[in-house]
Amino acid sequence: MNICIVGAGYVGITTAAVLSELGHIVYCTDRIASKIARLNKGEIPIYEPGLEELVARGIQNGTLFFDTEVRAHMAACPIVMIAVGTPPRRDGSADMSYLDSVVADLAASIKSHTIVIVKSTVPPGQSDWIESRLHEAGVPEQWVDVVSNPEFLREGTALQDSIHPDRIVIGAKREQASRVVKEMYRSIESEYVLTERIDAEMIKYVSNAFLAIKISFINEIARVCEAFGADVTTVAKGVGLDQRIGPRFLQAGLGYGGSCLPKDINALSYVAGTKGVKLKMLHAARTINRTQLDVYLHKLKQALDGNDQPTIAVWGATFKENTDDTRFSQAIAFMKKLVRQGWKVKAYDPLVSPPIRGVSWSQHPYEAIVGADALVLATGWDELIHADWASVSEQMKGNVVLDGRNLLDSTLLEAAGLRYVGVGRS
Ligand code: UGA
Repeated sequence: MNICIVGAGYVGITTAAVLSELGHIVYCTDRIASKIARLNKGEIPIYEPGLEELVARGIQNGTLFFDTEVRAHMAACPIVMIAVGTPPRRDGSADMSYLDSVVADLAASIKSHTIVIVKSTVPPGQSDWIESRLHEAGVPEQWVDVVSNPEFLREGTALQDSIHPDRIVIGAKREQASRVVKEMYRSIESEYVLTERIDAEMIKYVSNAFLAIKISFINEIARVCEAFGADVTTVAKGVGLDQRIGPRFLQAGLGYGGSCLPKDINALSYVAGTKGVKLKMLHAARTINRTQLDVYLHKLKQALDGNDQPTIAVWGATFKENTDDTRFSQAIAFMKKLVRQGWKVKAYDPLVSPPIRGVSWSQHPYEAIVGADALVLATGWDELIHADWASVSEQMKGNVVLDGRNLLDSTLLEAAGLRYVGVGRS
């Protein structure tokens, strides 16, 4: 199949690489010429394990192309996939301006039957809106099928998630269009959910909302575990073995961040509000996520035992491990909180060092901890979890290690003379 993907962002590049690997001819397009030029040289603007190799293979095999001629490829390809961003607006709603301009391009380009796949995360009802906009612009009804096919990949494991997805959701009006999209993924073994468009759109938002609620729930439970001297990690393990609950997304810590969970729960709350529905659980999840940083700050203050001018080392800045993405990162929000206390903050991350007022960056994890009164693990990078704790203990001035992801082995730290502070852990 010849497929045009619009938007060479995270989802666009990953999906393009995977579809070309499945044997399709894929044109991944974007208006930004500098981005396309870099991609054609095999330079990937994001960090995603395995993606660079997959893109290089697609380019070499002649199955993957990056181009700025968006309209030309829209006109030539029977399948056009929209993968542009829908960033958050101030009021929590999703900003549809990129999507609007794609729809205008489509209206000007479509000359024969085209399946328009909406991969971007959009509010429920958006596929209907795209369809009516195209009809209003003069595209005959029989020329276009708008299909909702949301993505569920996670940054850091995007390729694995794309090649072995838990499910592929395809929402279409006409069965024929569903069949073509299913055929596009033919070599991917997965559960296929063929449904109405509105249901597919809802599945995407509800999935992310549920994940956010799961994380906030365990973070709230961590507070009560601590009050009773129970260990939230053990509790989560025991609870998660119940197949009705499941073990994943029950890792207590600083809370969720990233470009998806916070944005999508706000957007779902917003659209629900437009229909007069108040989503109280989402509101609670957001509140817990925000106050989680205060819980950690309080623990740090207690552990510092009256030292009100401490130097704090923070390990990790990205919103989670194996990505260079810092959008809505709880690690960064926490650093800012520390700076606002008037404290000295030294930070290290394996991939990024974004400028933050009051934070000085180190090139090496052990450089960041020299003279520190406390160390905070803010992102669960493997190299940081498996640090040499004896060296850490030697370099630091104080001995407090605050585990912001509940991932460290307290016995190892304590053996090295460090004082382990987790959350919801005895
Ligand atoms: C999320 C969803 O997991 C994907 O299924 C979805 O496709 C994607 O959003 C999207 O909408 O594009 P992602 O944002 O890459 O993926 O990251 P997650 O793995 O979901 O992690 C989100 C945040 O929750 C991170 O800050 C992570 O550290 C935190 N988290 C995750 C926890 O605090 N505890 C957990 O148990 C799991």
